[in-house]
Amino acid sequence: MTKTKKILSASILSADFGRLAEEIQAAEAAGVDWIHFDVMDGHFVPNLTIGLPVLKAVRKITKLPLDVHLMISNPHLYIQEYVEAGADWLGVQVETVFHLERLVQQIKELKARATVVLNPATSLATLDVILEEVDMILLMTVNPGYSGQKFIPATLPKIRKLREMVDSRGLDVLIQVDGGVHLHTIDALVAAGVDVFVSGSGVFDGGDIAGNVRRLRERMERK
Ligand code: DX5
Ligand code: ZN
Repeated sequence: MTKTKKILSASILSADFGRLAEEIQAAEAAGVDWIHFDVMDGHFVPNLTIGLPVLKAVRKITKLPLDVHLMISNPHLYIQEYVEAGADWLGVQVETVFHLERLVQQIKELKARATVVLNPATSLATLDVILEEVDMILLMTVNPGYSGQKFIPATLPKIRKLREMVDSRGLDVLIQVDGGVHLHTIDALVAAGVDVFVSGSGVFDGGDIAGNVRRLRERMERK
């Protein structure tokens, strides 16, 4: 069943990094639920972003849960450091992991919540064995790498299928989407059964963070 309270996770990749603390505090004041933190390695994705030192700094300036999305090769080498740096939720891309079950258990043993992330072209079949073990599935709705990309509509039937899988097994696993979440795409995502909406440019672009969050939230809560 879709959870009633939907979650908005603000991706700081679209924030002004020169004023990162102010931007995060503005998002917090505007009522976002989580901060989404995108780590890219220039190998798994064609972009390099932020990592451990920035996560530690962010941990000190907000109490919001930190939703860390690792877009890196060999994530098993880094999960402990990311949890120690402050990750409440830790997401690994299924395409980067050889022993998914083992990695998910390691994340949980570290007392973080485990998210498994699928690229748009990656099949839901990869989740068959692991679905009972994870806390959240993130279905990418763009190819990871950049903020501000166009939403891929072919991901909608996939989201609906995952909703069915989760509900038919009676699980509490959250369904998250990331990429191209805007006012013109959010209604279809709500209808497909999404629980957690990541938004970067939708929250930070244009300077009116309070207004952006208010408008997104109104649409998220619409029945
Ligand atoms: C993309 C990242 C996203 C990105 C989303 O690879 O994982 O979190 O910041 O940005 P928008 O919401 O602008 O598509
Ligand atoms: Zn992300």
